[in-house]
Amino acid sequence: MSNPTVAQKFPYVKDMPAGTYYWCACGNSKTQPLCDGSHKGTAFSPVKVDVAVAKKVAFCGCKHSKNAAFCDGSHSKL
Ligand code: FES
Ligand code: FES
Repeated sequence: MSNPTVAQKFPYVKDMPAGTYYWCACGNSKTQPLCDGSHKGTAFSPVKVDVAVAKKVAFCGCKHSKNAAFCDGSHSKL
């Protein structure tokens, strides 16, 4: 599988209202950190994130996290 595009080498920390979101795994979305459909034609598909209660979320921006859709510090090794 090809490598994802690094959207940025640090997390997107966002205040998220409760809801269902789709994190961009390919790195090509223009609406980071969320999927905008740009993955079409690639091996990537978005990762569903359910936020039960409004909270701050650190979404992985580098797309190399082992705990996608969330930052796990892997960006520091890129
Ligand atoms: Fe990247 Fe959909 S745009 S996974
Ligand atoms: Fe990807 Fe931190 S931004 S692991």
